[in-house]
Amino acid sequence: MRLRSHTGSISVLSRSGLAILLSLTVILGVFFPWINFPVFGGNNNESSLTKWKEYTLAQAVSFVAKNQTLIVCAVSHPYLPFLNNWLISISRQKQQDRVLVIAEDYATLYEVNQRWPGHAVLIPPAPDDQTAHKFGSEGFFNFTSRRPRHLLHILELGYNVMYNDVDMVWLADPFQYLQGQHDVYFTDDMIAVKPLKHSSDLPPPGKKGRTYICSCMIFLRPTSGAKQVMKKWIEELQGQPWSRKAKSNDQPAFNWALNKTAGQVDLYLLPQVAFPSGGLYFKNQTWVQETKGQHVIIHNNYITGFDKKIKRFHDFGLWLVDDHAQESPLGRV
Ligand SMILES: *[C@@H]1O[C@H](CO)[C@@H](O)[C@H](O)[C@H]1NC(C)=O
Ligand SMILES: *[C@@H]1O[C@H](CO)[C@@H](O)[C@H](O)[C@H]1NC(C)=O
Ligand SMILES: *[C@@H]1O[C@H](CO)[C@@H](O)[C@H](O)[C@H]1NC(C)=O
Ligand SMILES: *[C@@H]1O[C@H](CO)[C@@H](O)[C@H](O)[C@H]1NC(C)=O
Ligand SMILES: *[C@@H]1O[C@H](CO)[C@@H](O)[C@H](O)[C@H]1NC(C)=O
Repeated sequence: MRLRSHTGSISVLSRSGLAILLSLTVILGVFFPWINFPVFGGNNNESSLTKWKEYTLAQAVSFVAKNQTLIVCAVSHPYLPFLNNWLISISRQKQQDRVLVIAEDYATLYEVNQRWPGHAVLIPPAPDDQTAHKFGSEGFFNFTSRRPRHLLHILELGYNVMYNDVDMVWLADPFQYLQGQHDVYFTDDMIAVKPLKHSSDLPPPGKKGRTYICSCMIFLRPTSGAKQVMKKWIEELQGQPWSRKAKSNDQPAFNWALNKTAGQVDLYLLPQVAFPSGGLYFKNQTWVQETKGQHVIIHNNYITGFDKKIKRFHDFGLWLVDDHAQESPLGRV
């Protein structure tokens, strides 16, 4: 940066002096390309790209966490509109400062950090982004399989972490619902209506012999119990790799991990009325009316397809990016 403080004196240099300075700059630029020369218009793309490429999870986590707590999501570039929608809803609860975006490709890493420095990190290797988007595909499975590893890493760094899918919208602040000092907090993905004051224990297994807990919203404290669940989740994913027939995602493995650790870990089921599945919220208007004002996070699941999800959010007044982009720390994407 030394050149910047001298740029004022360039005008008083002789023509040949300027030529010498410029050729020196070119030579330095060729041999030391990581040095950023403001003489050439101050475009520091090259250096900022390198900077974000080397930004580690530990650095990112310590930058965004507040009270040793952060909110993470994992997104690839096509999902930026959903990321923005989710961020607007979080900003309304004034919790956006502790959000960390785990970028699943370099385009997302650079775009988020250019608009909102420090809030995106890429944990290499970046998955093949052509294959990572289609629900049920092997690429999608590989992409979601990274989640428990990232979460475990954050726990090992000593932080509380909330994971969210980005096809969610916050209507209220979920942190007030994370009562007590349990290891793992989660929500049920079932459609059936539960009593208002249902148990916070892991529900009994369903038809397939396992529970239907959603891997979409999880809160973890950095305890040995929570780490044990993440390790078990990783193990279960390795034990049941993707197959064309099963078209699996990471949720069954998470449920088996809960099933197998239930005796040793303090698990906590969040109230359905606050965290309903998309199958309940979008399909039972009687229930929505009855429980009005008590919903906290809405999950746009039980539907597949990018456009269908957008339309449904739109129809329910939860697609915020068209009219409220200025409320997002990313602006309009
Ligand atoms: C590079 O810089 C230009 C102009 O300053 C900007 O428009 C562009 O978005 C930047 N690209 C990246 C990846 O930061
Ligand atoms: C952090 O914790 C303190 C004390 O418990 C609380 O007053 C404050 O609101 C918390 N900050 C955030 C960002 O949650
Ligand atoms: C998924 O991961 C497996 C195991 O690492 C690998 O063999 C396979 O090529 C990956 N598939 C895709 C589509 O990324
Ligand atoms: C775990 O799954 C097995 C098989 O479905 C079931 O019998 C058992 O009750 C489950 N345990 C817990 C704690 O849910
Ligand atoms: C819809 O919600 C109402 C009110 O809670 C409930 O009585 C009914 O059983 C629900 N319908 C279905 C199909 O689950």
